Amino acid sequence: MTDERGTTKFQVDLRRHLRECNVERNLTRLICEIADASKYIINSIRTGDLGVAGTSNLYGEKQLALDVLADRILEKRLKYSGVVASVISEEQDEIISFEPEHSECYSVAYDPLDGSSLVDVNLAIGTIISICKGDALLGKGRDQVAAMYILYGPRTTLMYSTGNGVHEFGMNQLMEYTLVKENITIDGDTGIYSPGGQRNLYTEGVERYVRLLEEQGCKLRYSGGFVPDINQILVKGKGIFLYPHLKGKPEGKLRLLYELNPMAFLVEQAGGAASDGRMPILDIEPETIDACAPVFMGSKKEVALAQELVANETR
Ligand code: AHG
Ligand code: MN
Ligand code: MN
Repeated sequence: MTDERGTTKFQVDLRRHLRECNVERNLTRLICEIADASKYIINSIRTGDLGVAGTSNLYGEKQLALDVLADRILEKRLKYSGVVASVISEEQDEIISFEPEHSECYSVAYDPLDGSSLVDVNLAIGTIISICKGDALLGKGRDQVAAMYILYGPRTTLMYSTGNGVHEFGMNQLMEYTLVKENITIDGDTGIYSPGGQRNLYTEGVERYVRLLEEQGCKLRYSGGFVPDINQILVKGKGIFLYPHLKGKPEGKLRLLYELNPMAFLVEQAGGAASDGRMPILDIEPETIDACAPVFMGSKKEVALAQELVANETR
């Protein structure tokens, strides 16, 4: 397991892995910039103000000081990277355009701090990143060229895909991301289920689905943080996450551009599936930057069962 320089496979750092996978130079630069920015986000989580920022985001949700700080850290890094044409953030109302130095450039949709309301109870949270070519931010998720997340948990880990498998990295004591596992796959049975949203608002089809999972003996694993909840399914290679359509909330809660699309890209790359209950998440045409959708994401078998039970429900 060592190469000609005696480096064990698992000391491969993120930049070297991207190069060895022949990832385009500016995309490599972009992914490494985001990885680097995560160190400042970690620091702000560990030491920052847990209070509210006194402002609200596009969804009318109160922004925490940490949301705004993480957003600023990322926006600045993306702006000065020289390879980003435009960004959209969960914490900003509109698309922001930059003057990239390079013609080979990208656009980024990101959730700077997903699950930020969990910081004060010391639960795991994350940064979610969707990357597309040029300035095609409102394209379908299928058009993404890369997706990644950073998970700030007991350990800090990073998961990325550029369309050739999903690869996990861990942050070492020097704050470098080194390879933990390549080509992660979701191929196991279900085992765990992660049911988001209020159960009393589940439609009949969703209620039947969850009861079937429970009758199969699935274990409930729901932290309220999208990144750790999906990470668990990727790392264990099995399971299903759902944040479904609800009575009175037909579109569910999760945001298409910077939560569902990047996670669906990773899950499909790992051999799983991601559906809104009727069609693949990655095939949804986003009408607006704040588009939301219901989601069933994880092992193919369970997503197919969910579609069978809910596809024809009126929402
Ligand atoms: P954010 O903190 O970026 O607003 O996102 C939180 C999301 C996601 O992390 C999680 O899956 C979902 O909210 C949980 O929603 P509920 O609190 O309704 O369960
Ligand atoms: Mn979020
Ligand atoms: Mn967020």
